[in-house]
Amino acid sequence: LASIEVDVAAIQPGQSIKTSWRKQPVFIRNLTPAEIEEANKVDVGSLRDPQTLAERTKPGKENWLITLGVCTHLGCVPLGAAAGEVKGEYGGYFCPCHGSHYDTAARIRKGPAPLNLAVPEFAFISDTVVKIG
Ligand code: FES
Repeated sequence: LASIEVDVAAIQPGQSIKTSWRKQPVFIRNLTPAEIEEANKVDVGSLRDPQTLAERTKPGKENWLITLGVCTHLGCVPLGAAAGEVKGEYGGYFCPCHGSHYDTAARIRKGPAPLNLAVPEFAFISDTVVKIG
């Protein structure tokens, strides 16, 4: 299936958008410096699905968190990508179906989901255009 290209120039720090790829929701989030700091100060060894923010983003573009918007429990679409939606106890995303909380690196922190929100294959093809897939 085709890849998609998204111009992220208009997404301000602290904002995110929902798009879709391969019929699945994708969240593209421009993390604030505080959200990056929050993600980086976590003891990775304590995580259910241990990954650093750097492992989930691209070098020099750590603020661009791109994940599938599909809860790894039973596949609901978590809240937190659209303005005004609750982000859960860890400031990232919250799945209302059974109460999974994801942090600012979209890592699972609380609730039944076993894994972090998945990061699709992606690459920046210019300073502001990202190719997903
Ligand atoms: Fe998200 Fe169950 S589907 S918590």
